[in-house]
Amino acid sequence: MTSIDSAVLKRAAGARALDFIADGMKLGLGSGSTSEAFHELLAVRVRGGLNIVGVPTSERVAQLARSLGIPLAKLDDTAPLDLTVDGADEADRDLNAIKGGGAALLREKIVASSSRKMIIIADGSKLVDRLGRFPLPIEVVEFGHKTTAARITRAIAALGYANVPLTLRSKDGAPLKTDSGNLLYDAGFGAIADAAKLDAALSSVTGVVEHGLFVAIASTLVIARPNGVEIIERSTSAG
Ligand code: 5RP
Repeated sequence: MTSIDSAVLKRAAGARALDFIADGMKLGLGSGSTSEAFHELLAVRVRGGLNIVGVPTSERVAQLARSLGIPLAKLDDTAPLDLTVDGADEADRDLNAIKGGGAALLREKIVASSSRKMIIIADGSKLVDRLGRFPLPIEVVEFGHKTTAARITRAIAALGYANVPLTLRSKDGAPLKTDSGNLLYDAGFGAIADAAKLDAALSSVTGVVEHGLFVAIASTLVIARPNGVEIIERSTSAG
């Protein structure tokens, strides 16, 4: 897939997500290139009179939304939100996902968890049978981060994940700092056997602020492929 094809698919996913937007909604605005395609389309509607307010999930998106004329608000002044629309690095048909490739996972998870619904928009390459090929981002506090990384290694080894490389993410030759001033480790699982168990294990490691596994948070996946857009909804049936 060329980058032009990929841009067309991201825009197609964003365009389909517009169908879920209604006047008066309070929206979580996701981060990443697919979300940005959605924001550009949303801004056209806003200029046409759509009345919404957005809560950005990163400083970059706040800046973009301002430049596009999308009205913004603080999460604490607007929660609960009606809907968050965001991208993903991987998603499966159970609507679990890996996010954080763009380093915004902490605010993305706070905003999505404060929303009645979360829609993930992506091109078809992001839909996988099993999560884990994309390295899982884990956000940690800077203080003692190598010790935290060792604790992560022990916690995941207890679940049977051996020899998982943990790579400190860097940018321009220095450790990357997130919008909240933390560091990121990318964990190369290869394949994640049980996302819910891993979610709980990582969340219990002292020093871990958050991680990019989104388990049972998204309610809808919008997947754009060259032959059309597929909508996958979370099953609400019991058992
Ligand atoms: C940022 C994210 C993004 O949503 C994810 O990385 C997907 O990005 P893109 O739409 O550019 O492929 O989680 O933290």
